Amino acid sequence: MKLFARKPIADLLADELGPNSLRRALGPGDLIMLAIGAVIGAGIFSSIGTAAAGEILPSGVVVRYGAGPALVVSFLLLGVVCGLAALCYAELAAMIPQAGSAYAYSYATLGELVAWIIGWDLILEYAVGNVAVAVAWSGYFVSFLSAFNIHFPDYLTHGYRSALLSSDPAVHSLLQTAPRIGNIPILINLPAFGIVMAITWLLLRGVKESARANNIMVVIKLLVLGLFVVVGALHIDTSNYVPFAPNGWRGIHQGAAIVFFAYIGFDAISTAAEETKNPQRNMPIGILGGLAICTVIYVIVGAVATGMVPYQQLRSADPLARALTLGGFTTVSWIVSLGAVVSLSAVLLVFQYGQPRIFFAMARDGLLPRWAAKVHPKTRVPHITTLITGIAVAVGALLADENEIYDLTNIGTLSAFAIVCVGVLALRYLEPERPRPFRVKFVWPVTILGAAACIYTMFGLPVRAWERFGIWLVIGMFIYFLYGFRNSTLRIARNATSAPEKV
Ligand code: ALA
Repeated sequence: MKLFARKPIADLLADELGPNSLRRALGPGDLIMLAIGAVIGAGIFSSIGTAAAGEILPSGVVVRYGAGPALVVSFLLLGVVCGLAALCYAELAAMIPQAGSAYAYSYATLGELVAWIIGWDLILEYAVGNVAVAVAWSGYFVSFLSAFNIHFPDYLTHGYRSALLSSDPAVHSLLQTAPRIGNIPILINLPAFGIVMAITWLLLRGVKESARANNIMVVIKLLVLGLFVVVGALHIDTSNYVPFAPNGWRGIHQGAAIVFFAYIGFDAISTAAEETKNPQRNMPIGILGGLAICTVIYVIVGAVATGMVPYQQLRSADPLARALTLGGFTTVSWIVSLGAVVSLSAVLLVFQYGQPRIFFAMARDGLLPRWAAKVHPKTRVPHITTLITGIAVAVGALLADENEIYDLTNIGTLSAFAIVCVGVLALRYLEPERPRPFRVKFVWPVTILGAAACIYTMFGLPVRAWERFGIWLVIGMFIYFLYGFRNSTLRIARNATSAPEKV
């Protein structure tokens, strides 16, 4: 049972009184802006193409079926799935306003081993997810610059994995044509590396400064999506909505499983709980408000995109810009590409913000080396974990393939959501008396349906995602038993108090 030792909530709340605590600077408006900053990004600007049109290998093998115009149904259903999970997040974030988010909640509810697994899953959501966002950012950035006749050499804008896995012959041939060091082709994504390092520098300057930069980027992304909707809506051809669901339920389900990436992030603001003023009130407002706004935007953008062009033509890395180009709106398309660059920067910012705080919470608990839990004396930022995350994500982005990563991020995040839902129910019975500033109503149906819906969405992902997720979990278990199990602050303290006194 030692593996399932629960960290008392009182201890979690006391953490913020210690020397390694963060500064409370964020209000409800900042939180909603952070949520929109985290949520609207590569998912809507990039993965909706695959969600609508499906994915087919050059060999003709169907990796997944697309939703077609029924993409709006996928979006609506995901809004419900995420809404159930968001209610659970809101209850826990208001009750335990700690930096560790789902990791901290599960430590209090389901015990240390589950907490570790969630913390490990959250790396897939934040750090690994950000590798994909950085690569997508680079793609938009390069095409934006090309409008000014500025061109990077291809071998500096494609990582080794993306060239290796690309079905585009021109990109794949870079394996042969790129300059080499010995036998190894130099294939790196320099813009992706650069943007992650730039954002890391911004985050190291302090949380209030970062939130301000985020607010500006969010306003720009909303304006750009607004422009897309207005221009696109005037040029909808209703015949594009027929057939509405070309691949039936299977397409809606598999489309939802990939475009779930677009929803990831509403939960990210829970990592800011320790830096939020009056988190009991503001956390639920931020989480649920942010999710509601994004759902409405996605349904509208999805309906406009699939109405403008036949859904098969959305199969591209920049489906919104492409729909506009196909409609003859090249200038608007260029503006939307610029908007995508800004939007993806905001996503990168929030995720680069969230990941170090989860590492920070895990290090504070002794599950990761304690030196990682240091907070900078002046900026009150967990600077060591911020820097390590920045370097790791930047190096990953240098080489990675974005498509390979979307599925892995989705499966890891959905599993964390499912565990959070179960955790809310468990805590109602384990600690019924604890004050809950925000209380999920109809807790049984909400939590059980929430967990089941997340697991069902996971089944819409390809087999390769499950295989990689399994490998990821095995590596995590290995690290836990090698390090975290032996160094857990909770276990060391309990062993000390239960050890027989020496005479
Ligand atoms: N939801 C975020 C995005 O779409 C991760 O980029």
